[in-house]
Amino acid sequence: MDEIVIRTAWTMERANSADLPAKLARAVQSIAKMPLQDDDEICFCFHVKLRKIRSFCRIERPKVASQISECLSAGTGCGWCRPMLRKIHQQECQVEEPWWRKIKDDEVDYHSAEREADAAVVEHADYAAGRQKYLKETGREPPADRAE
Ligand code: FES
Repeated sequence: MDEIVIRTAWTMERANSADLPAKLARAVQSIAKMPLQDDDEICFCFHVKLRKIRSFCRIERPKVASQISECLSAGTGCGWCRPMLRKIHQQECQVEEPWWRKIKDDEVDYHSAEREADAAVVEHADYAAGRQKYLKETGREPPADRAE
């Protein structure tokens, strides 16, 4: 019983430590990656956030992922975000696009782990860095009127 009281007091003392949140945050970051959040941009060219795309899919129920372009023009710039848009569409609308639509996409040739990752596992910083690499390697550019 005394041991439990002592351990509880020790834990409470540690919990009240001023730097505990920072230490906890570092520990959590080192253990798990933070997936994309609702406020993270999926389409950098048109600054469209994950929340907006999910809402669009839930409300409008697009039949194919390319119809997500009706949501603030997402996916109509450099093309980086199209695989992610397809994944979100598939998850939110429970629709599998036909094979001929996938092959028709001219962006399929560029592969990277960040580009093909699921929103639930990729970190925003990695996703953004992957896009910079994509722009550099493919020579694609964001729309001129949407300079970053
Ligand atoms: S990031 Fe979406 S079209 Fe460029």
